Amino acid sequence: MNNSIYQSLIKKNTKLAVIGLGYVGLPIALEFAKKIKVVGFDINLQRVDLMRNKVDPSKELTSEDFDGCDIHFTADLKDLKDVTFFIVAVPTPIDSANVPDLKPLIAASKTVGKVLKKGDYVVFESTVYPGCTEEDCVPVLEKESGLKFQKDFFLGYSPERINPGDKNHTLRNIVKVVSGCCEESLDNIAKTYELVVDAGVHRASSIKVAEAAKIIENTQRDVNIALINELSIIFNKLGINTFDVLEAAGTKWNFLKFQPGLVGGHCIGVDPYYLTHKAAQAGYNAKVITSGRFVNDSMGGYVAKQIVKKMLAQGKHLQDTRVLVMGATFKEDVSDIRNTKVIDVVKELQSYQVIVDVVDPHASSDEMIHEYGIGLNSNPSGKYDSIIVAVNHKEYSELPESYFKNLLVNEKGVFVDIKGIYRNKINELEYWSL
Ligand SMILES: NC(=O)c1ccc[n+]([C@@H]2O[C@H](COP(=O)([O-])OP(=O)(O)OC[C@H]3O[C@@H](n4cnc5c(N)ncnc54)[C@H](O)[C@@H]3O)[C@@H](O)[C@H]2O)c1
Repeated sequence: MNNSIYQSLIKKNTKLAVIGLGYVGLPIALEFAKKIKVVGFDINLQRVDLMRNKVDPSKELTSEDFDGCDIHFTADLKDLKDVTFFIVAVPTPIDSANVPDLKPLIAASKTVGKVLKKGDYVVFESTVYPGCTEEDCVPVLEKESGLKFQKDFFLGYSPERINPGDKNHTLRNIVKVVSGCCEESLDNIAKTYELVVDAGVHRASSIKVAEAAKIIENTQRDVNIALINELSIIFNKLGINTFDVLEAAGTKWNFLKFQPGLVGGHCIGVDPYYLTHKAAQAGYNAKVITSGRFVNDSMGGYVAKQIVKKMLAQGKHLQDTRVLVMGATFKEDVSDIRNTKVIDVVKELQSYQVIVDVVDPHASSDEMIHEYGIGLNSNPSGKYDSIIVAVNHKEYSELPESYFKNLLVNEKGVFVDIKGIYRNKINELEYWSL
């Protein structure tokens, strides 16, 4: 097997570049930079400047994580000329109609195509549908470079499994799925990733298999959470607490431990649309997956309607009511507000003329205004008719009932615990959870 591409990387004769330095790209770039020469490329100059000063714009890594790294951060194409191994980790969002938006991926492929040389490798890490790397990215690489795929340059796909805010499952200790366009490329790609992944790599049988593996990991979670969300709607009608039911059912050895909740973020709530899009192109309407998406995407509005009903039942006039929402990020203990479903709760309440204040110890008010036109309050102010704890940030988990009582207009205040973290701890307020 010819491992010259790998050999020249470890001898530091050539460089590896990571294109797109976000939640996924920066940790990979820094891990590689502890072993080989790395170029960190991003189109966002502000982010590049922060990283040059050892600041992670995604707020996941500390300045120590940049120590001892042989990395050059840049937005300049010229700095990619000594690179032989490209890793692409740019966003793969959906548009407002839930259709895959490949613009960043195509733009990054153009960038790489412009500097691609004979013998180079390109490995995509962005989450995509099966077939995207070869069908959508390769033509762009070929057109821009004038080179021929599999003759002049080689391709791989290696999905990322890191989880924002999760300090236990890191790049180093999660098995990494790798794939290549031929046996030799697979071997070179596997060996290169083995430099940074202690847990080892899984060699998938093809690029499409590796793409599909990633997309089903998140689709499986999404569909399972949708089932529990649907159960929670049913149990709410039956007057049963879902978390009590899950606790009881969870005593069986093979019961899967999923919880109800708002499914936001840029992975679980997005990736299934990539798969359903490809399925539709292949002539199959993926009903289970799309139903799951429908249920999960409806949960924000559902939660808001439950609160509205409870306030109406207490004889309140909605236009005179104030609701406090605690937590705005898409999940606990992170600052990421992209595709947060808390916003669905807020907007639905506002559509009933309810006044809503939102607080969050991790999120940025400027980012909230930029993304959603809704700013954050630095602290709760005045009295509220209802409080919603929407995200289980660690700052909230130990708050006593008295904290919430003091913020509510009176003891009739509605307390909504979306994640069930105060179950059995709220005795006096009107308690509701999913
Ligand atoms: N965030 C996660 O936990 C996670 C986990 C697994 C997989 N993924 C997947 O990884 C991919 C990247 O996600 P992310 O969360 O790191 O995104 P991100 O938004 O955090 O970062 C993307 C970075 O790419 C840069 N960028 C955008 N277009 C570019 C271009 N044309 N050229 C160079 N740089 C460009 C942006 O400026 C940004 O710095 C996505 O496909 C995502 O689905 C993410």
